[in-house]
Amino acid sequence: MPNASLNIKLQRESEEPLYRQLIQQIRAQIDGGDLTAGARLPASRSLARQLNLSRISVVNAYSELRAAGYLSAQAGRGTFVARDRASSQAAQPQPPAPGTRQRATSIRQMMRLARRPGVIDFSGGAPPSEFFPVRYLQEAINQVIERDGAEALAYEAPEGYGPLRAAVRDYVRAIGIDCRVEDVLITGGAQQAIDLVLQSLLRDGDTLVTADPTYLGIIDIAEARRAQIHGAPIDEDGIRIDALENALNHLRPRLIYVMPSYQNPTGHLMPLHRRRQLVRLAARHRIPILEDEVYREFRYDGDELPPLKALDESGIVIHTNAFTKVLLPGIRIGYLVADGPYQERLARVKQAADISTPGLNQRAIHLLLERGVLAKQLERNRLELRRRRVAALAAAQRYLPAGSRWTAPGGGLFLWVELPAAGPSAAETFIAGIGRDVAFAIGRLFYTGEGGEQAMRLNFGIHQPAVIEEGFRRIGAAWAALVEEYGDVERRAVL
Ligand SMILES: Cc1ncc(COP(=O)(O)O)c(C=O)c1O
Repeated sequence: MPNASLNIKLQRESEEPLYRQLIQQIRAQIDGGDLTAGARLPASRSLARQLNLSRISVVNAYSELRAAGYLSAQAGRGTFVARDRASSQAAQPQPPAPGTRQRATSIRQMMRLARRPGVIDFSGGAPPSEFFPVRYLQEAINQVIERDGAEALAYEAPEGYGPLRAAVRDYVRAIGIDCRVEDVLITGGAQQAIDLVLQSLLRDGDTLVTADPTYLGIIDIAEARRAQIHGAPIDEDGIRIDALENALNHLRPRLIYVMPSYQNPTGHLMPLHRRRQLVRLAARHRIPILEDEVYREFRYDGDELPPLKALDESGIVIHTNAFTKVLLPGIRIGYLVADGPYQERLARVKQAADISTPGLNQRAIHLLLERGVLAKQLERNRLELRRRRVAALAAAQRYLPAGSRWTAPGGGLFLWVELPAAGPSAAETFIAGIGRDVAFAIGRLFYTGEGGEQAMRLNFGIHQPAVIEEGFRRIGAAWAALVEEYGDVERRAVL
């Protein structure tokens, strides 16, 4: 088995983190044929010493290259240039995703480590399961079956169960959206709602504009539906209007996707003036906006703001929300509110997708709404999540590295943290954190292009205050150990 002779030149002044430079250079040498299939790479410890890098950087680079199919590991024998790379690529119907998305895929694979038992996991997007109104649901299901019998288990209308559509109409009217029952379409969660909108409005290769960073799910859907996705930069008020306008002028997108309330992943709340500017701009360009309001009801302070759909005079805003985050994610009930011209096509795409959302689930949710379970639940969620937010902010202050930046979210489940630019990246910190049984979402995942190397998203909502404190302590310790290791390698190099 030949030993690979690596030719790596790292630029320490570059903005590109060192482990990324390492990945790129190894990849280039494999792609260029300088490293051949089966060649053995140096052990991570010796390569780290040779390059004056932390070992974790090398481990991290090898793990990303493995996930991307460039390398393979054989237990006890070492790391090798993968043999089946060329053939596995040839079997793909499409060329591999461009570099940035491929990288995100490998980060996702890395993040599976978060699911190991015993890990304090801040990485997911789910609400806490102890909030789920399980007993109420059980009663509601029993009652629906008693009341409606087989009808509750038949095919439902593709647009949704009539009384639930009416309840949604009333619910959104209360926040300023003037709509009719016919404007409401029941979906399988907000995720399906987004997918249906993309399928209805975009054809292969069409462009969709969102913010960068954005919800990971929209990146996935765009990829699955072969849409181009462009991320416009944000500021603390959300998507930047100048950047968006530029994108509208140059890319001629078919859709704008935003989360005005407590954006995932940053937690930003779009203020009223920005909401107005956004709707006006989209109307001027006649480009529809899909607003995703799944975090709207997780509001801890400040006044309630109108959704974009309430400010929409030309019918170009499509509104989605769901009873998933606030009640029961697994019951999969969400909805779209859209004006007439969009409705017919949406209903057709919905029917093609799954005929209808399960009638039993729709009826059970309808009963929970009628009985005021949602209102009670929201109040309870808010009180408890506020307490957890306080714990997260205190723990961030106490344990996260000096020089980290974050803003206190006014709502939502997430804290978005930027680690100091000069230190270890979020991916490096993640790997070191896994060793200490803690995990978070690596910021890079949420970018459509470059960015987010130092960022992490922490779902503080999912844990009790004491667990939050312990988890943040572990992250801080993981980061400090990396810095110590960098220092150690530098000291050794000097000796
Ligand atoms: C912004 C956003 N939209 C949509 C979804 C999907 O939610 P649902 O469970 O309603 O499909 C999520 C879930 O994480 C989300 O964060």
